[in-house]
Amino acid sequence: MHSFSDRERGLGKVISFVPTMGFLHEGHLSLMRIGKERGDTLVISIFVNPSQFGPGEDFEAYPRDLDKDLELIKHIGADAVFSPERDELYDERFQTYVQLEKLPDHLCGITRPVHFRGVATVVSKLFNIVKPHISLFGEKDFQQVAVIRQMVKDLNFDIAIISAPTIREDDGLAMSSRNTYLTSEQRHSAISLYRSLQKAQELVNRGQKEAKTIVEAATELINSYPDTDIDYISICDPETLDAVNTVNGPTLMALAVNVGKAHLIDNMILTT
Ligand code: PAF
Repeated sequence: MHSFSDRERGLGKVISFVPTMGFLHEGHLSLMRIGKERGDTLVISIFVNPSQFGPGEDFEAYPRDLDKDLELIKHIGADAVFSPERDELYDERFQTYVQLEKLPDHLCGITRPVHFRGVATVVSKLFNIVKPHISLFGEKDFQQVAVIRQMVKDLNFDIAIISAPTIREDDGLAMSSRNTYLTSEQRHSAISLYRSLQKAQELVNRGQKEAKTIVEAATELINSYPDTDIDYISICDPETLDAVNTVNGPTLMALAVNVGKAHLIDNMILTT
């Protein structure tokens, strides 16, 4: 991978990079298409990163289908796929992690305390190996994008981070590799995440600005669907992720809900 990237850089090519954990869906493919437009050489990584899963999370169960992924990538026309083995990135003496101080203390970081340390670490490693000029991330993982932008700034990576909108199923469910865990009944309940975001924007449109009231309405809506267990619903500043009491100007509403064994997330920028 190092020599491939050195060669492309030597030829003056702009390398765009989409890091993934595989089991690709339209959300990943949309990032790849943007990457292809913005750069000359498109690199995709496929690596289910163990350091971003905590004990008892779904590292072992995380869906994997490398052959299908390679087929999808072939249609997009990527120039290289980097799919290392676990030991190539984390050998038994591995001991260096990238830890942000504040952003991980919010939202998903509360119930997944090692998650963003793992994400920041693996993305740094992948950036050092792939040496991209541009890297692309989906906005469904809003906090992940914030963490990566901050890390790139703090550690002076010379890489442009581009985020792209969440791709949704026809009924609004955000595409996610974890949707595959859902039974057909749970698939129906999973729509409650997007519905609650829509409901929140409707309330704001009708003049409701109180975060507490909006969160209560979203909670009630989600709880009315079977097999849902809310992890968090937060209305917060889109830059710091600090909770706010009122919606004044663009404000992030982010939520995570366990539907059966799928930990699903979604978000929307509420506008007044
Ligand atoms: O968003 C993901 O799929 C992962 O968190 C990433 C960025 C590939 C790091 O493992």
